[in-house]
Formats: sequence, C-alpha cells, structure tokens
Amino acid sequence: MNVMTKPDLTEARSVIGAPELAPTKTPKPPLLSVEDAKSLDVARMTDLFKAHLNPGQLHFMKLLGFHKVKIERAEGMYYYDQNGRAILDFFGGFGSLAFGHNHPRIIEARKRFQDEKRHEIAIAFMSQYASALAHNIAACSPGDLDMVFLGSSGSEAMEAAIKVAERAAGPKRPKIVYAENSFHGKTKGVLSITDGQLYRGEFKLVDNTVRVPFGDIEAIERAFRADPEIGVIVLETVQGGGGIIQAQAEFWQKLRKLCDQFGVLWVADEVQCGLGRTGRFYAFEHYGVVPDVTALAKSLGGGKSAVGAMIARREVYMKAYGTPKTAMIHAAATFGGIGEACITSIEALNVLYDEGLIDNAAETGDYLLERLEAIRRKHPTIVKEVRGKGFMVGLEFHDFSQTLPMVLRPVVAMLDDKLKGSLSGFIGALLLRDYGVLVAFTEYNRNVIRLEPPLICQREHVDVFCDALDGLLSRGIVGIVKDFVKSQVS
Ligand SMILES: Cc1ncc(COP(=O)(O)O)c(C=O)c1O
Repeated sequence: MNVMTKPDLTEARSVIGAPELAPTKTPKPPLLSVEDAKSLDVARMTDLFKAHLNPGQLHFMKLLGFHKVKIERAEGMYYYDQNGRAILDFFGGFGSLAFGHNHPRIIEARKRFQDEKRHEIAIAFMSQYASALAHNIAACSPGDLDMVFLGSSGSEAMEAAIKVAERAAGPKRPKIVYAENSFHGKTKGVLSITDGQLYRGEFKLVDNTVRVPFGDIEAIERAFRADPEIGVIVLETVQGGGGIIQAQAEFWQKLRKLCDQFGVLWVADEVQCGLGRTGRFYAFEHYGVVPDVTALAKSLGGGKSAVGAMIARREVYMKAYGTPKTAMIHAAATFGGIGEACITSIEALNVLYDEGLIDNAAETGDYLLERLEAIRRKHPTIVKEVRGKGFMVGLEFHDFSQTLPMVLRPVVAMLDDKLKGSLSGFIGALLLRDYGVLVAFTEYNRNVIRLEPPLICQREHVDVFCDALDGLLSRGIVGIVKDFVKSQVS
C-alpha cells in the first residue's frame, strides 16, 4: 500500500527568512518579496511594467502623466501617492468602488475571517459563505431572480448569463441580439456581443449574433420578426463603455412585452450600473421591469475582492441546469464562491443598506448632475452634454479638432491618435496634475469623461470635483491644450 507520510518541516521552518541557509534541491529564483513589492519606486515599477506587463499601455500612461504616480495607500474617497498627495477618486475603478477604498467594516469582516482560519476552497463541500451570499443577492433582486452563479469577474458572470439563457432558449433558438456600442467583457463568448472593434480585433468570434442600435425598440421588433432563431437579447441597462447612454423608460417596458410576445429571454448586464450606482439596486428597477437573467460584478466584491454573479429567474435556471444530468454543465469554477470573497460581498451588501448608499447615490448624484449642468451652461463651447443617473454620469465635450485655432492644430496632431480631437485626455491629465482629481475615460467615445465615484461620495466631494473642473475649464480650450502640451515636454 502506498502510504502518504507528512514531510518533516521542522528544518524548513527554521530557515524561513534565511534563504541562504536553505539546502533545497530546487533553487529559488530571484523572487521579490512582499516588502520589495511595496517599496518599488516609480522607475523600477516602470521597468517591470514594461518588461512583464504591458509596454504599450505604458505609452498611454505617459501621455496622460499617470506614470509618475505611485499609490501608497487608499482610504474612502481618496488615493494617496508617494508624496502624500491625496487624489480624489471620481473614477471609482469603472464602478468597482461603491464602498470607497478599504471600507472599515469590509476590512474588519475579512480580518475576522482570516483570524478564525476559515476555509477558502470548498468545491467538495457546500459552502456556508456561498449559500449566504446567494441568499443575499436573491434578497436584493426583484421578482423570481432567485438563482445565483458565483464567479470572479464581470466577464465570467456575463458568460454564465449568455450560457444559461442559450440553454433555456433551447437549441432551435441559438441567436443572440446585442447592441451597438455595447461592452460585456473580453472573454471570447461575451467579446462576440461586445461592439468594440478595438477589442474584437481579428479574433474568430461566435457568429450566432445579431446587432441592433441601442434603445431602438422598432429595430428589435424587426429583428425578432425576421429571425425566429433569436432566443436571447443582451443589453447593458446603462451603456458604460458607450459613454453613459440610457434608453427611455418606455423602451424597457416595450422590450419586456416584446420578449414575452416572442419568447425571447432578456439578459440585463448590470455589471457596471448595478449595485446601487444609479440610485436603485439594479438600474432596470427605475423602469418597473424585471429581466430573465442579470449579472453583477465590480462593486459586488466590496472593492477588496473579485466577485461576479449571474442571477437568473428560477424557471430559466431550472430549464438550463435543473436536473442532476445538467447540473454540472456550468457549475462554479475553482474560485467561484470561495470563502473570503463571499464574506466580503456579504458584508458589502449589508453596508450598502446600513449606510443608505443607494439613497445617497440618488440624492448626491442629483446634486452632482445639477452642478455639472451649471458648469455646462457656464462653458457651453467646451461642454456639450451632461447625462446619467445617480453616480453614473457622463460629461461629453465638443469635438474641438476643427475649432481649435490653426496655430495649435499641428501640435495637437502630433499627439497620439487616441487623443486627437478628444478633450477628455487633456482634461483628465490636467485634473490629476493640477487638482489631484481622478476621472475615467470612455472606450468608444473619446469625448466623454465617465464619473463613477464611490457611493459614499458626499456633497463636499462633489464640490471639490466641480470646483476643480470649473477652474480647469475657465482656462479655455487654448489654455487647456497649451498646458497639456507643456506637460508633455516637462
Ligand atoms: C457592462 C459591463 N459588463 C461586463 C464587464 C466585464 O467585467 P470584467 O472586467 O470584470 O470582466 C464590464 C467591465 O467593464 C462592464 O462594464
């Protein structure tokens, strides 16, 4: 019999921290320690980023001046850099930081979990943590959106969403409708319903898709009528990557009816707009309708862990995976529903309600929109439109490539392709450099800045942000462009 014996670790333990004494057979490569990682300076980080992560991305960071910043710590609404400078976070990790940075209750729950030496991986057993999180997500979800699949990202949650819908729709209706300017992730399945040419590149994608304009109910009806193989429609409730684009309430109500009429399953992608960001737990709740399947991620991880969830109506889920024979077709992956991630989300959802963060997003979000609208009126030649709901706000600038004085055009033309004609890059770079404020750009519309501050954002933070923006815009287009160009040579 092959008896497994435990290795004697006494000797190994005694040399931990003294690698030069460790007589191991496998030599240790030149690994950096955790402390080494924390203390890397900007120059060394740049070298490592270039050598091992993404040299091309560094190019954009340099263009915006972001490569000079090393974040040492983050708390609440702020990052703190290597010089102790506070950076107000109106970017919010594209909606991943509803609770701000390092929320004390979320940190505490994680610490307790670690101190109690709770288990993480429980593939063999049922997990009390995954069960409780699934219960909580179902409790936050309207109608019979009761069945939860847990994963580790928005893409994974959306993959699960299109798979459960495809199986429930059945083999005769494999086609998926998606919208222009959609963003649903970069894994291959959801990339096929993501509308960005940059991301799609030359990849061979799944071809059972039909593209329609976002918010156009007639186009959807035409598609449903024309093609009985359509079984699923996937839409972000608010398009984030598209530039904070919303559809009318009437659109969603008609969509629900149309889906019922044609037996098409509606998948609502709430990865970015969900979890209270627009002033309701799910953005679709503004319209009094319930989809068949939805997905959450980003802030579901409490800003501390990677958690994504697909949530399906029970009937849909049971059709897809409801029998012992079908149950394992799309059961959780290795890290789906692991311990600490789940308790992080459980605490986060409790904090969301205990601290009234959804109401705050609605109320303080209105205040943000009001202040931005006043800024638009003050700078009408620069700001084209302010739009959004709660803390999911888009600020669109006029395309200035044709209006810029002739003398500045060659200078701007020399700057990178990505920034030509777009003020967002200039404004984002100067907001950080001169005002210590961070904002986000938008994938498909380079003239739009996305504002997705943590839901803990208060009026005073809105004032700091809006005063900074107003101050910057008061320099005028020429001043902004000149200052940006100067920052490239300094
Ligand atoms: C609407 C939407 N869906 C899906 C995703 C993919 O999420 P992840 O980046 O966690 O894979 C994103 C990410 O930005 C998103 O905004």
